[in-house]
Amino acid sequence: MSGKTDKKDILEIKGVTKDFPGVRALDNVDFELRRGEIHGLVGENGAGKTTLLKIIDGALQPTRGEIFLEGEKVSFNNSREAIDWGIGTVHQEMNIIPYFNAIENIFLGRELTKFNFIKFHQLEEKTRDLLHRIGLSIDIDLYQEVRYLGAAERKIIEILRAINLQPKILILDEPTASLTIEEVKTLFDLLRKFKKEGMAIIFVSHHLEEVFEITDRVTVLRNGEKIGTVPTSSIKRTDLIRMMINRDIKSQYPKQKVPIGKPLLEVKGLSTDFLKDISFEVRESEIVGFAGMVSSGRTELMETIFGAKEKRSGEIYLRGQKTKIRSVREAIKNGLRLVPEERREKGIIESFSVRENLTLSHLDDFCRFDYINFNKEGRESKEIVQRLNIETPSISTEAKNLSGGNKQKLSFGKWSFGKGDIFILDEPTEGIDVGSKVEMYKFINKLIKEKAGIVLVSSDLPELLALSDRIYVMREGKIVDVLSGEKLTQENVLESTFGK
Ligand SMILES: Nc1ncnc2c1ncn2[C@@H]1O[C@H](COP(=O)(O)OP(=O)(O)OP(=O)(O)O)[C@@H](O)[C@H]1O
Ligand SMILES: [Mg+2]
Repeated sequence: MSGKTDKKDILEIKGVTKDFPGVRALDNVDFELRRGEIHGLVGENGAGKTTLLKIIDGALQPTRGEIFLEGEKVSFNNSREAIDWGIGTVHQEMNIIPYFNAIENIFLGRELTKFNFIKFHQLEEKTRDLLHRIGLSIDIDLYQEVRYLGAAERKIIEILRAINLQPKILILDEPTASLTIEEVKTLFDLLRKFKKEGMAIIFVSHHLEEVFEITDRVTVLRNGEKIGTVPTSSIKRTDLIRMMINRDIKSQYPKQKVPIGKPLLEVKGLSTDFLKDISFEVRESEIVGFAGMVSSGRTELMETIFGAKEKRSGEIYLRGQKTKIRSVREAIKNGLRLVPEERREKGIIESFSVRENLTLSHLDDFCRFDYINFNKEGRESKEIVQRLNIETPSISTEAKNLSGGNKQKLSFGKWSFGKGDIFILDEPTEGIDVGSKVEMYKFINKLIKEKAGIVLVSSDLPELLALSDRIYVMREGKIVDVLSGEKLTQENVLESTFGK
């Protein structure tokens, strides 16, 4: 590849290296971005994607290397300077202020310099304009503190904030991870429009179908190194995967058939303020899928079963016995395990080490007479780290230093200790790379063989269809359909999800 600046290039990165203590996150990376292109950036968890994006948007400074924007060398000291230049970013991890409402979050630091009410009104109109322009169907309460909103709604607010800047370069770090098919479609329409207007867009996703659908070129990072940039239409999926992980994947969904056993979890007539009369069951060695749109009630249902939210009526039977689960503690004691949807807020503690995160919720397993058996704890932590391919310099590294996908693996690994037999997995593979997904499926297989029951909530339909023995479809707080056997098809699930 020539090192010469192409006039179409709006951004050029030359020989960027980024070192963190004990990790070289980027190693001598070159990267070019053209005006009017959507450029995919792919690679395994921990490959360096987010680090590269943060260097472009001023959040991080490179250890070595140069950055050129419109042919001029720049070095941003912070994100503010990059924003002023015209770089808008939608970060991988939620980056909004939970106690502010949507409007405040969108305009903070720009139009909204002082909180005065007259302006607020104008900003509301501006937000509605933005929403209208985008044609979003989601009805967001603009005055609600965003901590009460769901993951998708918050993501949309972040996207609105970035778009409102009318950036020359738009960076999207896994923007679709918490969106459903419909919302992704809307986002893609929008990106195509921006592209026509000449915007340059960098798009990161672990969903390769999305990369193939929306990008013009794609750059692959592996282990901090750039493997190459290719026109998307010129490469096959298997070849792209090989570039990413340097090996072939035999089967994307290695599902094992295990005879299904006795009922483990039965939910009968469960209702909350939102959920209406939910009944379903999960048996030993069974994977029960839950499909539905964002805010159809899936996460609320899982949290209610797990004792994190109060139910109004209904009964839960565990292994045939009526059981009251009044708190998360009781749920855990009864063998339930929940891998929550929002890893950063609910799944892990950022300032704790990998090891502490892995063992925190079941320290009992390692304690004898009030002493923690650190050897055992360390050994088992290392095993989980290996088994789930959690990329970390050591088990004492703080969780906050892991890449997004590795945090998700950590939140999953946490529950693989101890004596759980009912696993509720809420979007467990969101943000996980192709290779590690397979590892995770194998891990689920192992649980199934040990007679565990799995409740799988996933917006990744191919995954849900491939793994589930039965799928319940939820809409507006109700179970509207249950599909199994030959009825388990994408069309059927979609039809029930959106209503006829
Ligand atoms: N602040 C930090 N301190 C130490 N190490 C870090 C820090 N940020 C990232 N790293 C390390 O740098 C490497 C690259 O991480 P990065 O977040 O860029 O990966 P990624 O490609 O975005 O992965 P993912 O798909 O999981 O989001 C990883 O090994 C990660 O642990
Ligand atoms: Mg990342």
